[in-house]
Order: sequence, then C-alpha cells, then structure tokens
Amino acid sequence: MAQIFSPAADARLRLALVIGAALLLLGLGTGFAWVRSGTAWRVGEPAAQPIPFSHAVHAGGLGLDCRFCHAGVERTADAGMPSAETCLGCHERVWNVTAQFAPLRAAIARGAAVEWSSVSRLPDHARFDHSAHTAAGVACGTCHGKVEEMPRTAKAETLNMGFCLDCHRDPAAQQRPAGAVFARDYAPTGEAHALRPHGLQSFRYEHYGVEVSPLTRCSTCHR
Ligand code: HEC
Ligand code: HEC
Ligand code: HEC
Ligand code: HEC
Ligand code: HEC
Repeated sequence: MAQIFSPAADARLRLALVIGAALLLLGLGTGFAWVRSGTAWRVGEPAAQPIPFSHAVHAGGLGLDCRFCHAGVERTADAGMPSAETCLGCHERVWNVTAQFAPLRAAIARGAAVEWSSVSRLPDHARFDHSAHTAAGVACGTCHGKVEEMPRTAKAETLNMGFCLDCHRDPAAQQRPAGAVFARDYAPTGEAHALRPHGLQSFRYEHYGVEVSPLTRCSTCHR
C-alpha cells in the first residue's frame, strides 16, 4: 500500500500536538491563577452607588461607630443598612446638597430603603452570620479591611471559601478579647482568645472516632 503521509507530515503533526498541549496547559494555568487572585473576586473595586457615600468622611473623619448605621451586627445574621431617616437626621441641616440627596428623599416618599449596591454579597448557597462573629471577637476589619479609610466602599478580601476556611481551621489567633471588637486602636497581643469555649469550637464530632471541627464542616456554611 502506498504511503499516504510523508515522514515530514508526520513530524509536523507531532509538533502541532505538542504546541496544542502546551497552549492548553498555559490556558488552564492562567485560569487557575486568575480564579485564585483577588481580581476574579473584585477585590478593591467599588460598586456604582445612588449617592457617593464615604466611610472615610463618616466613620473616619466624624468618628461614627459602625453600629450607628449597621445596627444588626451584634444581634442578627445581617449587618443591616441605615434608613434614609438616619442620614437625614444630620443632612436636613448639614451639607444639604439637594441633587446628591435626591435618592434619600425619593426613598422616604416610597416608604422604602435606598438601594445600595453590595460589594460583599455571597452566593445564595453560602450562609454567613454577623452576630456569631461579633460575639466570637472577630472585628469588622478582619473581613472588610479598613472601611473607615475608604472614600468608596470596596472589598478588601476575596470573601471566598478559602478565605473563610483559613480562619475556621484555627480562629483563636484572630479573635479579640470580649469588649475589644469595636476598639479602633486595638493592637493584637498574640494571645489566643477562645471567647466561647462552650460554643461550636469545642464541640467534638465523635462518630467513627474522628474529630472534625464543626467550624470546617460543610453544613456550617452550606444548607
Ligand atoms: C453614617 C452611616 C454609616 C457608618 C457610620 C458606617 N457605615 Fe458602612 N455603609 C453605610 C452605607 C450607606 C453603605 C452603602 C454604601 C457603600 O457601600 O458605601 C455602607 C456599606 C458598608 C459595607 C459594604 C456592604 C456590602 O453590602 O458590600 C461595609 C462592609 C460596611 N459598610 C462596613 C462598615 C464598617 C466596618 C463601619 C465602621 C468602621 C461602617 N460601615 C460605618 C453607612 C455607614
Ligand atoms: C452624624 C451626622 C451625619 C450622618 C448620620 C450622616 N452624615 Fe453625611 N455628612 C455629615 C457631615 C458633617 C458631612 C460633611 C463632611 C465634610 O465635608 O468634611 C457629610 C458629608 C456627606 C456627603 C458629601 C460628600 C463627601 O463625601 O464629602 C454625602 C454624599 C453624605 N454625607 C451622605 C450621607 C449618607 C448617604 C448618610 C446616611 C447613610 C449620611 N451622610 C449620614 C454628617 C452626617
Ligand atoms: C468573618 C467575616 C466578617 C466580619 C468579621 C464582618 N463581616 Fe460584614 N459581611 C461579611 C460577609 C461574608 C458579608 C456578605 C453576607 C451575605 O451576603 O450573606 C458581609 C456583609 C456586610 C454588610 C452588607 C449588609 C448585610 O447586612 O449583609 C455590611 C453593612 C457589613 N457586612 C458590615 C460589617 C460590620 C460593621 C462588621 C463589624 C461589626 C462586619 N461586617 C463584620 C463578612 C464579615
Ligand atoms: C477571622 C476568623 C473568621 C473568618 C475569616 C470567618 N469566620 Fe466564621 N466563624 C469564626 C468563629 C471564631 C466562629 C465561631 C463562633 C462560635 O464559636 O460560636 C465562626 C462561626 C461561623 C458560623 C456559625 C454561626 C452559627 O453560630 O451558626 C458560620 C455560618 C460562619 N462562621 C461562616 C463564615 C463564612 C461564610 C465566612 C467567610 C465569608 C467566615 N465564617 C469567615 C471565625 C471566622
Ligand atoms: C466557613 C464556611 C464554609 C465551609 C465550612 C464550607 N464552605 Fe463551601 N463555600 C463557602 C463560601 C463563602 C462559598 C462561596 C464563595 C466561593 O465560591 O468560594 C462557598 C462555595 C462552595 C462551592 C461552590 C464553588 C463554586 O465555584 O461556585 C462548593 C461546591 C462548596 N462551597 C462546597 C463545600 C464543601 C463540599 C464543603 C465541606 C467540605 C464546604 N464547601 C465547606 C463557605 C464554606
């Protein structure tokens, strides 16, 4: 039978296969690197907001406590958002720039809240609870960064599963003592503070004789 492909064609085919495989690996590698980087999680990217609100002005400059506007952080899963009335309490008198505050007046007229865009929102299959972390001595800045210095709010951490688990595997070093969660001038002592030794952290999973920390069990964050 006559030879269909010349030896040269054979070599070219092999070369094409090698280049193809190299490109595929490069693509996969770039993909993985991108997903693991902050860029894919929009770290440092502010969202468009109806009013150009600044934490640097309000929490930094004026020194307002986070709980003044996010009143749920100690009691509920949601941190909560300030009502339009909370803003107007000051802005009726101070800095009443009519055009900038039109969305506040519109919200009050509708009897609804201002529609802020979220930079931190998790997908629906993941569960988070602010009150549990506040009670366990985890400060806002551990997850949200130095919000009081941000003129426009942006993510400081990926808030992805890896980020959560990094702490859940061994949270003690990142827990503050009771009463210091909201202190702005807190300096870590290097000491471990297990604030709720009777809580989830000390629970032992005794089936099969293996000890699995409930903080790293899938069902803690996925239901
Ligand atoms: C005067 C009211 C006010 C105070 C005080 C305040 N915030 Fe906010 N916060 C807001 C408003 C309004 C938004 C929505 C607009 C934005 O994202 O900038 C917001 C948004 C946020 C977000 C983004 C939420 C999301 O859905 O992504 C975080 C995180 C946050 N605040 C943390 C803090 C922390 C931490 C403090 C204390 C250091 C604080 N805030 C103090 C009013 C306030
Ligand atoms: C405790 C009083 C107080 C509250 C509550 C308050 N503000 Fe302000 N706000 C001020 C003061 C004072 C300034 C002027 C700061 C300056 O110019 O240094 C200001 C400035 C602003 C500005 C001007 C733009 C800028 O970044 O300088 C905007 C917009 C604004 N506030 C929006 C809001 C919104 C939205 C809320 C509610 C979530 C709110 N403020 C709640 C006191 C307040
Ligand atoms: C352990 C990490 C962590 C800590 C600590 C934390 N947050 Fe959050 N925060 C999140 C996550 C994750 C979300 C998104 C929640 C969701 O989508 O269900 C969020 C959402 C928010 C929101 C958006 C509104 C809402 O109710 O979901 C605000 C405002 C906020 N956080 C403020 C704060 C403040 C103020 C503190 C400190 C008292 C704080 N956070 C502490 C991780 C944290
Ligand atoms: C800096 C440390 C830290 C980070 C980061 C952190 N957590 Fe936690 N988390 C804790 C600690 C400590 C507890 C245990 C509280 C207790 O013992 O009751 C906890 C408890 C929880 C609980 C159980 C709440 C309950 O009582 O039902 C959930 C759910 C949870 N975390 C979800 C998350 C998610 C989702 C993230 C990432 C977005 C996250 N956590 C990031 C420290 C952390
Ligand atoms: C401490 C909280 C926490 C625990 C524990 C946890 N997860 Fe997650 N998981 C998250 C968060 C937050 C997200 C959403 C952000 C992301 O995709 O990384 C997520 C996302 C996921 C996703 C979707 C990934 C994607 O690409 O969309 C899967 C699948 C998942 N988790 C499986 C698991 C399994 C299986 C376990 C147990 C071995 C587990 N998780 C334990 C917090 C947690």
